[in-house]
Amino acid sequence: MSTVSLDQFLQLRISRRCQYFIENNRLLALVYAQQFDRPLLENLFRLADAVRSLSETSDGRLFLRSLLPDRRAMLYFTQPSTRTFLSFAAACHILGMSTADVRDPATSSEVKGETRQDALRIFSIYHDLIIMRQPEAGFCEKIAFQMLSWPGRKPIINAGSGTDQHPTQALLDLYTLHRCFGRAGGLDHKKIMLVGDLKRGRTARSLAYLLTNYQGIELILAAPDELAMAEDIKQHLRENSTTFIETNDMHAHLAEIDAIYMTRIQDEWDQGSKTSIDYSRLGLQAKHLTALKPHCYILHPLPRRREIQTAIDSDPRAVYFDQAENGMWIRAALIAHMFAVDKDILEH
Ligand code: NCD
Repeated sequence: MSTVSLDQFLQLRISRRCQYFIENNRLLALVYAQQFDRPLLENLFRLADAVRSLSETSDGRLFLRSLLPDRRAMLYFTQPSTRTFLSFAAACHILGMSTADVRDPATSSEVKGETRQDALRIFSIYHDLIIMRQPEAGFCEKIAFQMLSWPGRKPIINAGSGTDQHPTQALLDLYTLHRCFGRAGGLDHKKIMLVGDLKRGRTARSLAYLLTNYQGIELILAAPDELAMAEDIKQHLRENSTTFIETNDMHAHLAEIDAIYMTRIQDEWDQGSKTSIDYSRLGLQAKHLTALKPHCYILHPLPRRREIQTAIDSDPRAVYFDQAENGMWIRAALIAHMFAVDKDILEH
């Protein structure tokens, strides 16, 4: 398998590339949301629930910290991050791992002209796990593939690369939906609206991929025309028989949905160009709450700006702060899975 070159690897369909990053049902690297299938998702949800409940007692926390105290993680986060960085650091610490980080490339030898690739190779010498977020689309998959042939074959997790993918955000979003709908027949057959900058919002893109693991999901993709969901995702939805409609009027659909996933406009990718996009039809305000079903959950990966009025925060349907917490538990579960201590947790 590893006899293919990087160029050949990158020519493959993503579903074929995913096969390089799994061995004996265990992820060697997490790069794409497409690497999760339903059995793996459900195992991770069960594991995250177990980590969460063990963490309620001192004995449980000490047990979790005894699992990976001999492992070190590198957090290479050269793009802004609050929740993802901190929740990954907390997830590592929950399992007893120690962490180091590079957050500002100006403090690394990249300023002396070292390539990112060499920097990553060095991290892989000192550490047992690399968790990374950086702006270059496609870099994470290249490194993850190359890492397979570097000594030690250290695992790598994509914590958001370019505008393309953010698989662990989608994982925590799905875990949140799974918990929300736990007592309401589960996530199958639910109608979910994704709102905002669907073109450049990597969280919405990755979540759309993950939702195709569920039966009978109907998606409403609500975005200004200029920021509509890209064709690759729509193609994936079609191939997986996930029905979707596109609209630029989110408010017209509020009464019919079971969950709404708000996202912000990703204008850091505009690179100074002035846009004349009409954002007036985006945004959830307190006055819209009565239109929603009594159990329509409101999600947002955060950070938010004005897409969700703060007056909504106290509504029981608002679960965006729960999402942030869930991220820590599910990331601990993912790391436990990658380091094969999942059984220890479930059997404790
Ligand atoms: C997202 C990201 O960085 O892609 N944030 C996050 O990870 N929680 C969403 C965003 O920045 O809008």
